[in-house]
Amino acid sequence: MTTQQILTDAAYLIASVLFILGLRSLTKPETARRGMQLAAIGMVVAVAGTLMHHEIVSYGWVLVGLTLGTIIGWPLGTKVAMTAMPQRIAISHMFGALAATLVGVAEYYSHHLANQELPRAMMGALGFEVLFGALTVSGSFVAFGKLQELISGKPITFRGQNYVNLTLFAGALGLFGYLVYDPTQQWAFYALVGLSFVIGLSMVLPIGGADMPVVVSLLNSYAGLAASATGFAIGNNVLIICGALDGASGFLLSVLMSKAMNRSFANVLFGAFGAAPKGGAAALTTGEMKGISPEDAAATLAFARSVVVVPGYGLAVAQAQQLVREMAEQVEKRGGDVKYAIHPVAGRMPGHMNVLLAEANVPYEKMVEMEEINDQFATVDVAIVIGANDVVNPAAKRDPNSPIYGMPILNVDQARQIFVLKRGKGTGFAGIENALFFDEKTSLIFGDAKATLQKLVTEMKAL
Ligand code: TAP
Repeated sequence: MTTQQILTDAAYLIASVLFILGLRSLTKPETARRGMQLAAIGMVVAVAGTLMHHEIVSYGWVLVGLTLGTIIGWPLGTKVAMTAMPQRIAISHMFGALAATLVGVAEYYSHHLANQELPRAMMGALGFEVLFGALTVSGSFVAFGKLQELISGKPITFRGQNYVNLTLFAGALGLFGYLVYDPTQQWAFYALVGLSFVIGLSMVLPIGGADMPVVVSLLNSYAGLAASATGFAIGNNVLIICGALDGASGFLLSVLMSKAMNRSFANVLFGAFGAAPKGGAAALTTGEMKGISPEDAAATLAFARSVVVVPGYGLAVAQAQQLVREMAEQVEKRGGDVKYAIHPVAGRMPGHMNVLLAEANVPYEKMVEMEEINDQFATVDVAIVIGANDVVNPAAKRDPNSPIYGMPILNVDQARQIFVLKRGKGTGFAGIENALFFDEKTSLIFGDAKATLQKLVTEMKAL
């Protein structure tokens, strides 16, 4: 073993340990920032280790890639709004999977060019890499298009779609098996790449925009598996390890997200959720919505003993997190207690509300998970729902015809008084009415959450 190889392997080992420690730290909000830093350092060490590799042919091209990547990546990381994060992540996966696919094609092509025999095990790794890589590229691209509303969020499907998908997948597996049997069959390799692109399209087009975050997370898992296979194909240990970590964490996240929406994984992938809602959901929404002026709401809030803030996607849209904190300070100044109820799928991505509130320096111990806070709502003076809708919709508990029936929700309807901040009569992500807004304990303050909160804070300060 040369010194260079020893250094490369040592760098890969250190990087892998840093990735694992980083992931571990990401499990708690308090340590999440450190987790990201550890993982970023791990990535720098892994890149440094790779640059010592004997097969690097041109440092000039590496530099060009690095410069281009930085020019594209910097604005992606700093300028993209938090609300656009799911599509940002989808497009990143697309690039990662494209890299894995291109490495797979280059490896196959270079072996062919050099007239080298491709061992079956390596052909297996390459086949796996291009299969999962290519389907992730086209699938992520469709997911990006749906989330960015470049293409319709409605399921694009036809009768027998699932059977067609199964046939396509069986065809790809057939080509894969044939290639492992005879790696010299170039046509089969390129047909596998092409077919995998088609599978990505036919897999994601029939899924509604509503389920895209779960799909993006699943595609993340596929991109990880493709990267891991790349590691086997080119003999790179750190790719094998971090690809496997990515594959496993993406898969677990998809399962957990489906669970939090009370949907089976199969239902997300084959159920065409996100289409027009079924009838019956409006059955509970009788009565009138009642408004309240910011002045009256401010007076009630200011002297409440216990307040629970229920943040949702609209808070992220309004970017009003600082004002939420200011409002809470006004309550706390007068001796009241303020907590924040965190629903696992509030917003548009896991941990969305935690990140949003942390930006405004809301202490972590004030953010209470759904399971813990749900028993406390009955003793709460005021629950203030800011841009949340589906996650507080009682139809999930009471209406078996509702598309969200069975989804765990925050028991806001049990609070003594409820204020809801929203712009108008818009529905939430699931596109259904919400009986909570018609509840006699509920008062609505219409308008952009930022403007409304500004009025509330000004009024509370003047009291
Ligand atoms: P939503 O149900 O999407 O409701 C958001 C509400 O915010 C809407 O009713 C909207 O009403 C209001 N709003 C929007 N912009 C606003 C603004 N500037 N000011 C004030 N209000 C504003 O949000 P949620 O309760 O957080 O539920 C999340 C949904 O996303 C769930 O259905 C969940 O299953 C789904 N989902 C989440 C995830 C993850 S991991 N978080 C993943 C996939 C799916 P107006 O238009 O009337 O203002």
